[in-house]
Amino acid sequence: MKAVVLRALGEPEVLRIEEAPDPQPERGEAVVRLRAAALNHRDVWIRTGRYAGITLPVILGSDGAGEVVETGADVDPAWRGRAVVIDPTFNWGDDERAQGPAFQILGLPGDGTYADLVRVPADALHDKPPHLSFEEAAAVPLASVTAYRALVTRGRIAAGETVVVTGIGGGVATCALLIGARLGAKVYVTSGSDAKLDTARRHGAAGGVSYHDPEWPKALVAQIGGRPDVVVDGAGGDTFNKALDLVTPGGRVVSYGATLGPVQNLEVRRIFWKQLNVLGSTMGTRRDFAAMLRLYADGLRPIVDTVLPLDQAAQAHRRMEEGRQFGKIVLRI
Ligand SMILES: NC(=O)c1ccc[n+]([C@@H]2O[C@H](COP(=O)([O-])OP(=O)(O)OC[C@H]3O[C@@H](n4cnc5c(N)ncnc54)[C@H](OP(=O)(O)O)[C@@H]3O)[C@@H](O)[C@H]2O)c1
Repeated sequence: MKAVVLRALGEPEVLRIEEAPDPQPERGEAVVRLRAAALNHRDVWIRTGRYAGITLPVILGSDGAGEVVETGADVDPAWRGRAVVIDPTFNWGDDERAQGPAFQILGLPGDGTYADLVRVPADALHDKPPHLSFEEAAAVPLASVTAYRALVTRGRIAAGETVVVTGIGGGVATCALLIGARLGAKVYVTSGSDAKLDTARRHGAAGGVSYHDPEWPKALVAQIGGRPDVVVDGAGGDTFNKALDLVTPGGRVVSYGATLGPVQNLEVRRIFWKQLNVLGSTMGTRRDFAAMLRLYADGLRPIVDTVLPLDQAAQAHRRMEEGRQFGKIVLRI
């Protein structure tokens, strides 16, 4: 098969397409012929050596959609020929509250989806919602399950509540906007780009402000006419302190990422004085994934920023690193 194999860490140009051995399914596994894969910031962290447990060579890619071509022992052969999306969370464990020690994500340490074929546990297969193209379906899994768990399972958002999603251009953030709006929340956003704020409004955001304005929480309170019930943050850094400042007393701040790095001078006083609920969230359980996918089966469509051919994985990474995207960057295979 053809695959983009990461053999050395470095600039996007280390991502080159080459011939690789076809994967064979083991007991309980299936092989999917991929039609599309999608990028996540995780792939950039890995390529640049800023991720735990990197082992090379590896085929990156946690998101994929395609057709099942082979099934191993103990897998229903009726899967063969079906169009599927892959749940990238493996071995969550028995506790719905948090992943266990065997938890893994597709695309490190096991080979991922920047390839013609991928080998996955059969319980990670889900029928592709028929109205989604393969490119759209590949844009769903990791970002949407992360957004769903952050908003619903952890954040417990309710219809009519006000939610702020930081850094709306990101893959997870755009999914959080779509899912939050679909569930009846009023979603406000921040971004580094006015054009992205406009795009977010077209996708259902009630409003938004630029995070380049150091007083952006105040600007957002003025726009909302009050404080939000929930802030969903993937930026970390100073944005996290601002989220604690912004949210209503008794509200929830859900953290799922730290693109900006660690939080300096964490405002602990705000947490206890405002009676805040600070919640961490990572990926999602099989149950989260199924509930999330039902929203797409019921008509939701992910936001696809760009579709590039697999042999332009380097260009795709560069676009993500430069933060030019609004939504998911997809590789057509
Ligand atoms: N815990 C989990 O399970 C999980 C899952 C997925 C991702 N993550 C983490 O979540 C983060 C986002 O991932 P992704 O794949 O969605 O990344 P992405 O598509 O590359 O998005 C990153 C976004 O960060 C935003 N950003 C940059 N500077 C910011 C600032 N000063 N304030 C607020 N936002 C800022 C940008 O928003 P604008 O373009 O609007 O300026 C950018 O689009 C990454 O750190 C990733 O590692 C965690």
